[in-house]
Amino acid sequence: MSHIDKDIQTILVNETELDRVTFRIASEIDRDYKDSEHLVLLCILKGSIVFTSELMRKLTIPSEVDFMKVSSYGTGTISSGHVNIVLDILRDDLEKCDILIIEDIIDSGRTLSYLADYLRFKGAKSVKTCTLLDKPSRRTVEFEPDYVGLEIPDEFVVGYGLDYAERYRQLPYIGILKPSVYEK
Ligand code: IMP
Ligand code: MG
Repeated sequence: MSHIDKDIQTILVNETELDRVTFRIASEIDRDYKDSEHLVLLCILKGSIVFTSELMRKLTIPSEVDFMKVSSYGTGTISSGHVNIVLDILRDDLEKCDILIIEDIIDSGRTLSYLADYLRFKGAKSVKTCTLLDKPSRRTVEFEPDYVGLEIPDEFVVGYGLDYAERYRQLPYIGILKPSVYEK
């Protein structure tokens, strides 16, 4: 067991399951975007880096990758409720782009709903949303992502890109963090 594994209470989604889920979503995207002339996977930094890179490698249709960075969380496990754009998408051909926003997890729903509205407002040809994990019990705004990997219970999870205070992103699985780590 490595130093960071000891902070994990339970493994919620293991590597085999993550492989199966990302394969399923990539197949759905392949099917739905086969006629798209300009699919852009919009990776939301930093939590979605692992999920996005896995999807890219499993897609068989042409795609581009691009990035935005938003912050809604402070340093802890509670969302501030405001979505701030820290890094914007910098391109002048949005009207030709089918944007697929790739998120690690949807919780209150604020981040994805804000980003989808923002990109439509900026004039993207189409905007859809994809999340690896969904905590439906936590929603405060009505929002249904177009692609969902797995629904999970209301627990704070880390790994596979997801962090607590910038740590644990490197874990190859999704694990529930021991509350003693953040309840100090
Ligand atoms: P929302 O705007 O409340 O839907 O929050 C989505 C963002 O909150 C995600 O992109 C994550 O960065 C963060 N988040 C929500 N739940 C968790 C969790 O269990 N672990 C790590 N980050 C989380
Ligand atoms: Mg995130």
